[in-house]
Amino acid sequence: MYSTINTESEDGIFTITINRPDKLNALNKKVLDELDVVMDSVYHDDKIKGVIITGAGEKAFVAGADIAEFISVADDKGAAFAKRGQDIFFKIENCHKPVVAAVNGFALGGGCELAMSCHFRLASANAKFGQPEVNLGIIPGYGGTQRLTMLVGKGKAMELMMTGNMIGADEAKALGLVNYVEEPGTLIPKAKELLSLIMTKSPVAISKVISAVNSYYLFDKNGYEQESKLFGEVFSSDDKKEGTNAFVEKRKPVFTGS
Ligand code: COA
Repeated sequence: MYSTINTESEDGIFTITINRPDKLNALNKKVLDELDVVMDSVYHDDKIKGVIITGAGEKAFVAGADIAEFISVADDKGAAFAKRGQDIFFKIENCHKPVVAAVNGFALGGGCELAMSCHFRLASANAKFGQPEVNLGIIPGYGGTQRLTMLVGKGKAMELMMTGNMIGADEAKALGLVNYVEEPGTLIPKAKELLSLIMTKSPVAISKVISAVNSYYLFDKNGYEQESKLFGEVFSSDDKKEGTNAFVEKRKPVFTGS
């Protein structure tokens, strides 16, 4: 039914695995479309009580939006490109059933943003988090400027988004970005254990917790609108062309500020 994600259901827990391991599970248009559709089924399928989102293979959760695909997106379509990802991640964030990220490796750019749109996160000890968009001459566009700031605070969020540096699982835990660090073999079992506990509670109460906590942060979505607008602005820059081409050509970018 899907070509870029795998799904599996067991005892009410629905596991969505992003499945492009040869591209470190990078989010291309097809993955986003399939995530959108699969989240609709999560909303409507009464047999699904809780969700785990993870990545295929041992190396990556999701290493970001698909950079090779950026090159084919028209300069004036950047804001719409960001908004599309934002809308799908809102669907995850606002899901009335618990959604947890099991981060099994690199969670970079759109991958970190995907993990942050989940209600909470667990990481394997080898996980690495970062928002390296500045290395490509762009900014996070799928809600990262907002959710990273919420989760780790303004100063650290600024540092991570301006340096593009990655952090390991233990530092992510110390910052509040993840709740648990597990060995790779216990990552999914721990996620299932937590979801199983949550599933013993009233689903009505759980859905109200999600809704009330999200209300604290959402305000009027102004920050997200600003993010997609600014993403659109940098998307047409020469530096974005240089940054994305440099990645594909496996060389260091030379930015000129234009
Ligand atoms: N988009 C598209 N392709 C990606 C990708 C992305 N975000 N991240 C990794 N890939 C691809 C690589 O191009 C490579 O493909 P190839 O084998 O056809 O050349 C493959 O996945 C493996 O990645 P590689 O870079 O060879 O692995 P590595 O172990 O040397 O480095 C990373 C791992 C995560 C450090 C590196 O892949 C990276 O920096 N990725 C981009 C991260 C990023 O900037 N994300 C934000 C995007 S907005």
